[in-house]
Amino acid sequence: MSNELKATLTFSDGSPGAEFPVYSGTIGPDVIDIRKLYAQTGKFTFDPGFMSTAACESAITYIDGDKGELLYRGYPIEELAVSCDYLETCYLLLHGELPSADQKSRFVTSVTYHTMVHEQMTRFFQGFRRDAHPMAVLCGSVGAMSAFYHDSLDIYNLEHRYISAIRLIAKMPTLVAMAYKYSIGQPFVYPRNDLGYSANFMRMMFANPCEEYKVNDVLVRALDRILILHADHEQNASTSTVRLAGSSGANPFACIAAGVATLWGPAHGGANEACLLMLNELQAQGGADKIGDFIAKVKDKHSGVKLMGFGHRVYKNFDPRAKLMRETCYEVLNELGLQDDPLFKLAMTLEKVALEDDYFVTRKLYPNVDFYSGIVQKALGIPTDLFTCIFALARTVGWIANWNEMISDPDQKIGRPRQLFKGNVRRQVLPIGQR
Ligand code: ACO
Repeated sequence: MSNELKATLTFSDGSPGAEFPVYSGTIGPDVIDIRKLYAQTGKFTFDPGFMSTAACESAITYIDGDKGELLYRGYPIEELAVSCDYLETCYLLLHGELPSADQKSRFVTSVTYHTMVHEQMTRFFQGFRRDAHPMAVLCGSVGAMSAFYHDSLDIYNLEHRYISAIRLIAKMPTLVAMAYKYSIGQPFVYPRNDLGYSANFMRMMFANPCEEYKVNDVLVRALDRILILHADHEQNASTSTVRLAGSSGANPFACIAAGVATLWGPAHGGANEACLLMLNELQAQGGADKIGDFIAKVKDKHSGVKLMGFGHRVYKNFDPRAKLMRETCYEVLNELGLQDDPLFKLAMTLEKVALEDDYFVTRKLYPNVDFYSGIVQKALGIPTDLFTCIFALARTVGWIANWNEMISDPDQKIGRPRQLFKGNVRRQVLPIGQR
């Protein structure tokens, strides 16, 4: 950080101003260090939704929303998606560098040998209703892991932090597959160590005691790509939640459970589920013929209807992940002989109409990764209500890399935002008969 540049704050009423250091990152906008603002002026900043606030220093993921660029540790997502698999990407996010062949082999072995969950976890699952949303089950079961792995909960011990990271990455697919199997009343399928990460997950999802799952490389590669594209995304809502939860010293399993809860919302990880539901509904109402009416509703502020899978807080040009996911969508549909899938065709028409509409153009609203990831997941056989769980499974590495980076930061403090208070001033409690 260089602090030669200063920012000066003045007030129109003549009250004393203040000067603040300005820091540059390796790329991206400079930041004004306002940590001493309150001490110097007696005022807070007001930035609900963090529209202009950098909440931390990070070296993991960089997004240039105007260029449509996403870099994990400096590597463009377009290159990682075609040259690396998900576990190499995990290694990169956690360690900062891509692994050598030997490092990769040791990392894959560590993850592979931690995929089983404690057998008692199965009873934990039985406490849930079978019709519970799998994200509810995932929030609970991820949080419950803190009750099973006491040997790695010292967050100031580097080795403990590493083993927790490996456990979370390794066990998340097992938990997601268990949530699915439980919901359909099938027995849990144990992990198999001779399969790769994504193939193993698909087998735990789709095999059953009567029928082995036949691994299809195109489908496994598609799932692996979904995981790579969702592995990290800078300081988004769920990652910031994990950091905030972790800033109090909470254990990593509890912090990741907080991330899972945040991801659940339709404005964040729930968007691909919401997008597929939207396409299904539009299809049921008449498909392409009804796109005009639907777009009119989306543009009507009072309708409360949004075009799901469109728009992004940071990408204001295009989402590079959406392009890669569209490619994968073609590959998967071709492999399965579903080229004429009506939902995919509807999505393509809807995209075209929206991209030519002034409302979307002027607001810089483009398809995000979720516009296509739902169609791919549906083709893979993943049920709609499990989509966000797949996202959570993919994002676990990003959450844990950010959590770890935060704990390692010597300047780290508990997160404690302030507020602009608009409530009642001090008043007296009246006896109940006088209220
Ligand atoms: N459909 C219709 N209008 C939209 C959409 C949309 N999907 N997204 C934004 N807008 C409009 C807003 O109404 C607003 O219009 P206005 O200026 O007339 O008031 C304008 O575009 C700016 O929107 P904001 O809400 O200020 O943008 P913000 O950056 O806060 O929101 C968000 C980003 C939450 C992603 C939003 O675009 C959205 O809800 N999209 C649909 C949900 C979705 O796809 N989420 C996935 C995000 S990607 C991910 O998590 C992997």
